[in-house]
Amino acid sequence: MTPPPVAVLTGAGGGLGAAVATALAAAGSPVACADLDAGAAQRTAEAVIAAGGAATAHAVDVTDPTAVSGWHEAVRSALGPAGIVVNAAGAMDRGGPSELDHAGFMRVVDVNLGGTYAVIREFLPDLADAGRGRIVNIASIAGLVGYPFPSYTASKSGVVGLTRSLLIDLWGTGITINAVCPGAMDTAMFNAARIPDMVRRTPLGRIVTVDEVAATVAFLCSDAAAGINGASIPVDGGATTAFRYAEG
Ligand SMILES: NC(=O)c1ccc[n+]([C@@H]2O[C@H](COP(=O)([O-])OP(=O)(O)OC[C@H]3O[C@@H](n4cnc5c(N)ncnc54)[C@H](O)[C@@H]3O)[C@@H](O)[C@H]2O)c1
Repeated sequence: MTPPPVAVLTGAGGGLGAAVATALAAAGSPVACADLDAGAAQRTAEAVIAAGGAATAHAVDVTDPTAVSGWHEAVRSALGPAGIVVNAAGAMDRGGPSELDHAGFMRVVDVNLGGTYAVIREFLPDLADAGRGRIVNIASIAGLVGYPFPSYTASKSGVVGLTRSLLIDLWGTGITINAVCPGAMDTAMFNAARIPDMVRRTPLGRIVTVDEVAATVAFLCSDAAAGINGASIPVDGGATTAFRYAEG
């Protein structure tokens, strides 16, 4: 029996990243946890190890291809080649055209879209050599519908488009690539004051949890998900699927 694949995970120190690390480790994968925040990546790795899994922690800025390449070398020597790539690093800016200048706009696009591309490009040879693999990109409902925050929405729409486009490069390789599009989750990134508003907009009657989104990511990384390829899957409690008039 082949051992569970090594997983590489960006944004591992964040709210969703920590939950994804836990879910992938529970499925048996060693998890290489990367984050801009070294301490946060370390805390996630320690939690995985404390639960009986295997993990390493790395300080990586996904917008720096040299740093991503250094991470790859470190992962290969500590854990071996990657078989799963999950891009969960993300940045948010709520500014619109009157507040956010070109550099600020590009910074968000660089983290969310450029970073996703850099990490896939770096680790793809590992998956190609194995003739199998899983790539999951964390997009957002902002990648599916018109949403506030133009830099964020443009970048997440880009992640959905990148996921679809890479299907062509990955044709026949045994590697699947999918995007997961979470609705609002109660993490550092989401403005907590907006949660009641999001609950009102969500047919589920509440916002989704990081563990629910992580379970979808882990499923897409499993052998059972072999037939799902190029999908952008909302995990949003139905928020982008239904329209309801405001109460009263
Ligand atoms: N929270 C939500 O409501 C929500 C909804 C939809 C999608 N998402 C997406 O989920 C993912 C995880 O976000 P979260 O909610 O856990 O927020 P979070 O802020 O808790 O986590 C984001 C993590 O990304 C890391 N990061 C930021 N820039 C980085 C860089 N340049 N290099 C490496 N790491 C970097 C941060 O240090 C942080 O640990 C993001 O892609 C986000 O856009 C979040």
